[in-house]
Amino acid sequence: RKNLVIAIDGYSSCGKSTLAKALAKKLGFIYIDSGSMYRAVTLFFIRNQVDISNPEAVQDALQHIELNFHSRDYESHITLNGEEVSEEVRQMPVSERVSEVSANKLVRKEMVKQQQRMGKSKNIVMDGRDIGTTVFADAQVKFFMTADPKIRAERRFKELQSKGDTTTSLEDVFENLAHRDYADTTRAESPLTRAEDAIILDNTELTQEEQLNFALEQAHQHL
Ligand code: C5P
Repeated sequence: RKNLVIAIDGYSSCGKSTLAKALAKKLGFIYIDSGSMYRAVTLFFIRNQVDISNPEAVQDALQHIELNFHSRDYESHITLNGEEVSEEVRQMPVSERVSEVSANKLVRKEMVKQQQRMGKSKNIVMDGRDIGTTVFADAQVKFFMTADPKIRAERRFKELQSKGDTTTSLEDVFENLAHRDYADTTRAESPLTRAEDAIILDNTELTQEEQLNFALEQAHQHL
């Protein structure tokens, strides 16, 4: 491929988007948060009570969903049928349902198609669960991120609190992460797994700056 793709996959809340944004900014690439697409679809399914077990209902719903990204300062903002939903899709009601929705074959097929289109001609950094294995198996640079589950839960808990969520406990967050990791790695449709050529990045004890420097060093060898 002529354009450059950096794929970042890994477990829930281990800093994929933080690293992806920093890399995109440093390299002047476009950042795409694939998780927010599954989250926006989930929000639509919740709002419209779409029966996930009914393929026709799912297909029909997908035809009524239009997702768009608009990038401001390398923050990835997503709109669902024109409505800005970036904040809402990160809240617990969506987090609790997203792994179920993202395991759906029809949902994945449509999202992968849209993601591949976005990475067709531009230099991008995309993070998610199946980017290096499925969406861009031919990406020039792939990272697989991981971190201690307790540290991940603490980071995400602090993030929710800073956004004014006072009802979700650290325990709730921990359980949601464990549940999503389990669901994401064991599902039938492109489960989360490390691509053979992905570079492992365990950031349990790394600062954001150290992660960025490590990733830039690796990326420069391939770009
Ligand atoms: O990355 P984030 O945690 O926002 O993703 C939310 C959920 O979306 C994941 O737990 C996973 O179920 C799903 N997802 C996926 N494939 C991707 C990105 C996210 O299945 N490429």
